[in-house]
Order: sequence, then C-alpha cells, then structure tokens
Amino acid sequence: MSELAQKARNSDQSRDGDVAAPSAADLESARPGSREEPILEVDHLVKHFPIKAGILFDRQIGAVRAVDDVSFTVSRGETLGLVGESGCGKSTLSRSILQLIEPTSGSVRFEGREITGLGSRASRALRPAMQMVFQDPYASLNPRKRVAQIVGDPMRLHGIVSGPETKDAVRELLARVGLNPEHYNRFPHEFSGGQRQRIGIARALSLKPKLIVADEPVSALDVSIQAQIINLLEDLQEEFELTYLFVAHDLGVVRHVADRIAVMYVGKIVELGAAADVYSHPIHPYTQSLLSAVPIPDPHANAGRRQIVLEGDVPSPANPPSACRFHTRCPFATEVCSVEEPLLIDHGGGHFAACHHPLDAEGRPRRGAGTRAAAVA
Ligand SMILES: Nc1ncnc2c1ncn2[C@@H]1O[C@H](COP(=O)(O)OP(=O)(O)O)[C@@H](O)[C@H]1O
Ligand code: SF4
Ligand SMILES: [Mg+2]
Repeated sequence: MSELAQKARNSDQSRDGDVAAPSAADLESARPGSREEPILEVDHLVKHFPIKAGILFDRQIGAVRAVDDVSFTVSRGETLGLVGESGCGKSTLSRSILQLIEPTSGSVRFEGREITGLGSRASRALRPAMQMVFQDPYASLNPRKRVAQIVGDPMRLHGIVSGPETKDAVRELLARVGLNPEHYNRFPHEFSGGQRQRIGIARALSLKPKLIVADEPVSALDVSIQAQIINLLEDLQEEFELTYLFVAHDLGVVRHVADRIAVMYVGKIVELGAAADVYSHPIHPYTQSLLSAVPIPDPHANAGRRQIVLEGDVPSPANPPSACRFHTRCPFATEVCSVEEPLLIDHGGGHFAACHHPLDAEGRPRRGAGTRAAAVA
C-alpha cells in the first residue's frame, strides 16, 4: 500500500464509519512536477438530496447520495475532464462547486478562498469569476430575451460595461464566438443548436470569468458541430487564460481537450490522472469499459479491440451498492469488493484509482484478483 493510502487509512477524517478518502491536498501533493497553487480545490464534497415521505410530517426516509466525498484540484489554465454515465452525479457536482446548489458538506476553495457558506452578497461578488456553460443551450437561454439582453444584461449588472457601451461589447463578443455581430437583436429560436451554444459561451465569457464549468456543452449537438464548439472553447481558453472543468458522459469527447481526467461512478471519483495515462492505461475496470466504447480513428486498431459491455443498470444513488459501488457490474469483482471500500490510491505519477484489483498495462486485474466466476466458484 502506498504512503498516501496508508495516510488516508490512518487519517482521523474518517466520518460515519466510512473509510477516509484522500483530501484535495493529498491528491495535489502526489501530482508530478511543482505546480502553481490550484485555482480550484474541492475537498470531501458531499451533496445528498433528502428523500421524504409522509403527508402531515415531512419525514426524511433516505437520501440520494448524488455526490459522495469527492476531492480534486484544478490548476490555473488546466482542463480537467469529468466523465461518467448519465446519473452519476456530474451536474450535481458542477452545481455544488459553483454554489448554485448548497453542498451538504465539504469544502470548495477558489483562488485559495473558501466559498461554501458565503452569504449572498459575497457569493454574488464572486459569481462573475466562475461561470457555467449548460448542456442544453436552448433551455438555458431565456426565449423571450434578445441576444443583446442575454449577453449584455449580466455585463451591465456586474458593472463590466456602462449602458451605452453594451451594444458594442455584445457585438464584439458575438464576433469572438463566431456569430454574426449584426444578429444581436435576434431571439434564441432564430439560431441553430450550435449557434445557441455559442450564445451560451458568449454569455459566460461576458463576465470575464477565470473558471468555466462546461456541463456537457456538446452532448445536445450534432456530431458535426461538436468539434467546432470544442475548438472554439480551446481557442478561448488560450486567449482568455481560462481554466475548464469539462464535463462529458463519454471519454471520446474530452480526449483532445483534457489535461487530466476524473472518472465518476455513482457519486464517487474512481480514477483520476493525466489524460494520456488514463487513455493509454486505465487502472479501474469502469474506466476500461468506458474506454472500450470509444472508437479509435484507425480502423485496424479498432478491429483488434474488445468492447466491454457492462451488464446491469447503473445503480441508484439512493441505494448504492456496498463498498466498491461498481462491484455489481464489474467483471473482476471478488468478495472483498462488496465488503471493503477501495481507497483512491496513487498508482504512480499522480494516477489515482480506487480498486482492489487494479488493471495492469495489458488490461488484466493484477495478482490477487479473481474473476467473478472464480469468486463465485
Ligand atoms: N434536485 C434533486 N433532487 C433529488 N435527486 C436529484 C436532484 N438532482 C439530481 N438528483 C439525482 O442525483 C443523481 C445525479 O444526478 P446528476 O447530477 O444530474 O447526474 P449526471 O449529471 O451525471 O447525469 C441522479 O440520481 C439524479 O436523479
Ligand atoms: S475489481 Fe473490485 S474494487 Fe475493482 S472495480 Fe471491480 S468490483 Fe470494484
Ligand atoms: Mg448532467
């Protein structure tokens, strides 16, 4: 067991009898090379939605454990790709980080400052620096407002431009995101899906943010348009020195944009590492199965690959499986997997995975692992 895992195990941060997951500081210190201070530090973040019953008395009878003890850091100028199947908690995590919903517990530091539990005035002052781009560009744009208002109003509200300057500022932004600046007087429905996402990006940019959380920004778009929006986001990152948390439900989308990848399963991060390491050598069986579904541009390489089809449905976060939450679907599960929660451990060079039987370079579970058949036999 690595020093980090031992530290986590011994830590007195263990809550409610759970094993203690490594903190943001633990994860950061294990990263290779000396990096500047992270712009975002997410530490033991939890978001549970209460499940209530009763007509007269609102009794809480359970909780949807949408985000369950998540820690990671993001450096300035970096793109962290956050990947996992639908319902695993990506949007809840994104919204909790931006304080659009109140986390149940845990900490979020932005530029070294704690931002959970801030009053509404302090939150509002911080809002421009952290912006979100939403999955559905149509639903996130007010259909009754013209683009000039959608993009211009927040700028005026936050004192970035004064009234008379607004029109020119909006036109400049529209041009920068690849839209015709003369279309500033149009309504969202007069644009295509890709163009609407460009409006959403212009609105986020209008407040001169430092961090953009892009929650599946291309999932609702045609494949032919997806690359254009991803390229735009990349260009803007360089020009405006942006940091991205880029959320996607498949690993193919973030392949070319992410510096690091965090893989999420039923409310937990199960693998985290440099994108090149995660793609070339996934350590967690869940990541391996997600990767096997991503087509490789070279058809010869594709021909030799085995697609791993996961059996069963994604478990409900209202009643997650014990210990390793992936054990109900994992082809390599053994008895220990349903009894003892695996820790997120550094497997070298800041490549973390939470698995009792981590995969080797050939994609096989390492020594000590058994197959499900062997475990059952
Ligand atoms: N407001 C809410 N109340 C109760 N459950 C919620 C709420 N928002 C999300 N959930 C549940 O939390 C889980 C994670 O949802 P979400 O964060 O939207 O996942 P993802 O973005 O990865 O698809 C899901 O089971 C979802 O049904
Ligand atoms: S081998 Fe065990 S610990 Fe690892 S992912 Fe599978 S079920 Fe979880
Ligand atoms: Mg989502």
